[in-house]
Order: sequence, then structure tokens, then C-alpha cells
Amino acid sequence: MKIKVLMVCLGNICRSPTAEGVLQQRLKAEGLAAVVQVDSAGTAGWHVGKAPDARSQAHALRRGYDLSSQASRQVTAEDFNTFDYILAMDQQNLADLRAINPANSKAQLQLFLAFAPNCGTTEVPDPYYEGEAGFEQVLDLIEQAASGFIAHLRTHDLSSHTL
Ligand code: 4NP
Repeated sequence: MKIKVLMVCLGNICRSPTAEGVLQQRLKAEGLAAVVQVDSAGTAGWHVGKAPDARSQAHALRRGYDLSSQASRQVTAEDFNTFDYILAMDQQNLADLRAINPANSKAQLQLFLAFAPNCGTTEVPDPYYEGEAGFEQVLDLIEQAASGFIAHLRTHDLSSHTL
């Protein structure tokens, strides 16, 4: 059975699509794409159906991450039964997720940057109203957390797989 990971931010057009794209690419590079499934969603439904923000796409593509096939969707209560990990970009996302977390949830709910303990912050800042540097910072933080998260998966979830 695949390990299922859901990245969550507010609008699902900047941070969580970037996290989905970066983690997906890293998993592919490490030969883990077949055993880990990645998706993303937003706590708000404002941008449902839309592709990731053009700025997020452009900055990600410069580092080799193609976000163009993604479409925004809103988190559902069902996600808590589908996903093993639900990873929030900031504290407000985490609080919003906790508010809809069903009692029988199987998902581990955490801040994504918990997997980058040395990155200097605990939240991926919302770049929506920021300039170019904001989008680069999002990528810098997400790349660090993706590495830490894959290391975590290898230790905790993938030890029974032959890799
Ligand atoms: P995201 O960024 O949560 O990283 O996707 C945002 C996207 C849109 C808005 C806010 C944050 N908005 O206010 O529309």
C-alpha cells in the first residue's frame, strides 16, 4: 500500500502546490515515486480548479519543478481517512485542519517544517502578496523540508520496502 501525503496551505495555489511538486520530483529522483503518493489542497476554496499561481510556477520551473498540471482543491473531511500524513504550511493552516479533523482520523497532522528543524523558522510564509524573494524563500524552505521528510519516511515507513 502506498504512503499518502497531503500538503496543505490556504489557497492551494502557491505553497502547497510547490510542496507537492518538489516532494514528487525528489521521490522520483530517489526511486520512491511508486511507493509514496503526493497531493495538495487548500483550507479555503477560493481558487478551486485553478492552476498554481503563475509566479509559483515560474520560480519552481527555474529549479526544475513543473507545477503546470496541478489544479486547486479544498481539503475535505474524507482526506483525514485517505492520507497518512497531512502537512500544513503554517500555524493557521494547522489550526484550521484541527478544526475539521474527524475523531476517527488516521492522518498524522503536522507542520511541514517540522521536518526541517534547522531552517530557522516553523512556517512557510505566504508569498501571495510578496515579491520575487518570497517565492524563492518558499522554495528554499520546502526543499529543506522535503529532504527531511524523505529521510523520515525511510526511517519510519519504508523500512519494509526494498529500496
Ligand atoms: P497559498 O497562498 O495559501 O500559499 O496558496 C495564497 C493564495 C491566495 C490567497 C492567499 C494565500 N488569497 O488571498 O487569495
